[in-house]
Amino acid sequence: MTMVWVCCISFLLQLQISLSMAVIQLPSHSWELQKDQNAKKDSHSIIEAALSSNSAYNRLAYMTDTFGPRLSGSIALEKALNWTKEEIFKDGLEVQEEPVKVPCWVRGHEYATLRSPRVKDVRIAGLGGSIGTPNGKPLIARVLVVSSFDELETRKNEVKGRIVVYNEIFEGYSTTIKYRLTGAQRAEKYGAVAALVRSVSPFGLQTVHTGYTNAASIPSAAITKEDALMFSRMQERGQEMEIELYMEAHTLPDQMSRNLIIEIKGSEKPEEVVVFGGHMDSWDIADGAMDDGGGAYVSWEAIRLIHSLGLVPKRTVRAVLFVNEENGAMGGQQYYTDHVHELNLTSIAIETDEGNFSPYGISFSGSHKARNLLTDLGQELLGQLGAGNVSGEDYGTDISYVCEKGVPCGSFKTLDPRVGNYANNPCLEFSNPPYPEPDMEMSAYFWYHHTEADTIDKLSPEQLQRCAAALAVWAFSIANLRCLLPR
Ligand SMILES: *[C@@H]1O[C@H](CO)[C@@H](O)[C@H](O)[C@H]1NC(C)=O
Ligand SMILES: *[C@@H]1O[C@H](CO)[C@@H](O)[C@H](O)[C@H]1NC(C)=O
Ligand SMILES: *[C@@H]1O[C@H](CO)[C@@H](O)[C@H](O)[C@H]1NC(C)=O
Ligand SMILES: [Zn+2]
Repeated sequence: MTMVWVCCISFLLQLQISLSMAVIQLPSHSWELQKDQNAKKDSHSIIEAALSSNSAYNRLAYMTDTFGPRLSGSIALEKALNWTKEEIFKDGLEVQEEPVKVPCWVRGHEYATLRSPRVKDVRIAGLGGSIGTPNGKPLIARVLVVSSFDELETRKNEVKGRIVVYNEIFEGYSTTIKYRLTGAQRAEKYGAVAALVRSVSPFGLQTVHTGYTNAASIPSAAITKEDALMFSRMQERGQEMEIELYMEAHTLPDQMSRNLIIEIKGSEKPEEVVVFGGHMDSWDIADGAMDDGGGAYVSWEAIRLIHSLGLVPKRTVRAVLFVNEENGAMGGQQYYTDHVHELNLTSIAIETDEGNFSPYGISFSGSHKARNLLTDLGQELLGQLGAGNVSGEDYGTDISYVCEKGVPCGSFKTLDPRVGNYANNPCLEFSNPPYPEPDMEMSAYFWYHHTEADTIDKLSPEQLQRCAAALAVWAFSIANLRCLLPR
């Protein structure tokens, strides 16, 4: 820590001197990049190399097609990790495996049927962590639809013995997710026998979106947006609905898995690190190409690009391919435990777990000084790629354990050009237009997230390579700064 401060104070003094001299000589930002012409040259090389390859896409397509869904505790995840490891070796890179104990939730068979006012199959996706229906049998119950937790409170006397259906409006993922997380817990308090939650998504084609739910003593599952809307209409007309629900969901003992770590050791300060990564696990119904095979593989690709150009950063750059982000975040927690001695030596941690479309920058959580530095760096080195924006202040789940201890953190941001101006898109719903933009909360990412439709065709080779290029430039240039990012 002392070293860091001495280093940063001398850096700031030099910056001030160079700033006052620069007024005449240097028209643009006069931080240390101008003394380091290599930064621009190396960034160009990285971007050029990235754009002349399809490596990330080809590997991700092979991995998702061949191994499919990769929930923690599954053999598919372990096979995908093994294959990934072998491919990383082929790049001439080393891989470290850091063991992680992960939970093992199993969906089993499940179905729901509307029995009245007509018979209809109701598509469901049991929520991760849910229990099954009692005694291994189907349950049959009448339905109560509510559109919010407020309405649940108002109608709490009607809940007993019913299946509660949440027909909540999508107001962005982070806002609406509360129905999936706590809907069952709240309904069970008033005597509900099950909870069905409208899929947390702005858009539906009879798609069910699974995801984690907090432990409850009643089963819970996602239903489609279309069915939730129909149940709501039926209730408004006074039509009684009855549903048969069957779920075998259960939790097995924890299993061993591992985080994969790929590094290029720093030439001057190998003990200081720039960390970035995504997660290898996915939900059991999703190939997890977007969430988050893409994030894991562009992180690996960023290291591969730097390595293939023979570039060696001053500090160590490290990609972490986490496991168990989806249902427990044990990979992120274990990384924190294994690397706690490095917190003061970690310049920044960046996660890419919000899609890998057109990169536009990072959301940053850290000091004002560090933010200014990154803003300049982004403009200088990533402006041309359109990937240099620094805004926001959020970070990803896997790195949250180190972020909460004061390590500067970033979340890699991309935009899906298919969605464009969300506020004017009549296919999407939002309660308070115009929705702020650009905001990935409303991007096409959440059309497919945690569904069977999260497949490789949603991604493009070019976008993945641009993401890898942007990540590589961020990581490499931050690793080459004179100091660790100021706290
Ligand atoms: C992964 O590789 C290890 C080491 O070669 C092997 O022991 C293990 O069985 C493999 N796992 C699977 C699921 O194939
Ligand atoms: C890291 O820095 C903090 C803040 O100065 C200090 O309290 C802590 O002891 C340091 N930890 C290590 C492992 O050096
Ligand atoms: C970065 O993005 C934010 C959020 O969209 C925007 O408000 C800001 O103007 C952008 N900054 C630059 C320098 O483009
Ligand atoms: Zn994810």
